[in-house]
Amino acid sequence: MRDARRLLAHLLGIAAERLVVDMPAGLSAAQEAEFAALVARRAAREPLSHITGSRLFYGRAFQVSADVLDPRPETETLIEQALQAPFRDVLDLGLGSGCVLLTLLAERGEATGVGADLSPAALQVAAGNAADLGVAARASFVLSDWFDAIEGAFDLIVSNPPYISEAEMAELSPEVLHEPRMALTPGGDGLSPYRVIAAGAGRHLRNGGRLLVEIGWQQGPAVQQIFRDAGLAQVQVHSDLGGKDRVVSALRSGASPG
Ligand SMILES: C[S@@+](CC[C@H](N)C(=O)[O-])C[C@H]1O[C@@H](n2cnc3c(N)ncnc32)[C@H](O)[C@@H]1O
Repeated sequence: MRDARRLLAHLLGIAAERLVVDMPAGLSAAQEAEFAALVARRAAREPLSHITGSRLFYGRAFQVSADVLDPRPETETLIEQALQAPFRDVLDLGLGSGCVLLTLLAERGEATGVGADLSPAALQVAAGNAADLGVAARASFVLSDWFDAIEGAFDLIVSNPPYISEAEMAELSPEVLHEPRMALTPGGDGLSPYRVIAAGAGRHLRNGGRLLVEIGWQQGPAVQQIFRDAGLAQVQVHSDLGGKDRVVSALRSGASPG
């Protein structure tokens, strides 16, 4: 019912919360047919954001398509943690729609950022969102397999990598299967991106720089161990609003990038 209201509001071009006030007396035959088509797509478990093309994240609207992960509310935990300390520049590995990088740039008006993704289509969606949010001049986008095409060092590295294990993929809801497989799972135990990111963080963080990654709620101990083994300092796990482990943070300490 709530989704039907949102679809109707989308069709009529009015805010869902204004539907009762601004709803016209009736729909034209063309509008009725279009509404039925939208409802049929949702009934086939296509995510609402893919149908409307937009998702609210940390209070801002992001364009979303079938080429990117639908931004999740729990990823706002990554934003909250990133904003706990100042940063001049930020690298986002696995940019997707750009919801993480672009939110950070919107929240910190002096900061610059680089967003990397292995999907050219995702980079395009993110570039559109950067323009919409007015942060395009402070953002650059790189087609990169994690750190491969990244140069230089940053105050902050953030990542919400694909972390669903091969075994868990079989249990996902039909909505999730509309999203790009590459955004969901790296295969195997779901931890391989953390190993690559931890191994490269030393080279791409300034001394004292922070690394923050989103995790699956059962991955806290494993990701903390990966970070410690890579020589990162002050490794900590942080919970989301539901009380589940959601973010692992660490610092680079040491004399010079290795
Ligand atoms: C879980 S999604 C996160 C997207 C976005 N940051 C968010 O939080 O909604 C992971 C992203 O990592 C990208 N990705 C997967 N493998 C990658 C790789 N080897 N190098 C760079 N990006 C990769 C995917 O294309 C996808 O956009």
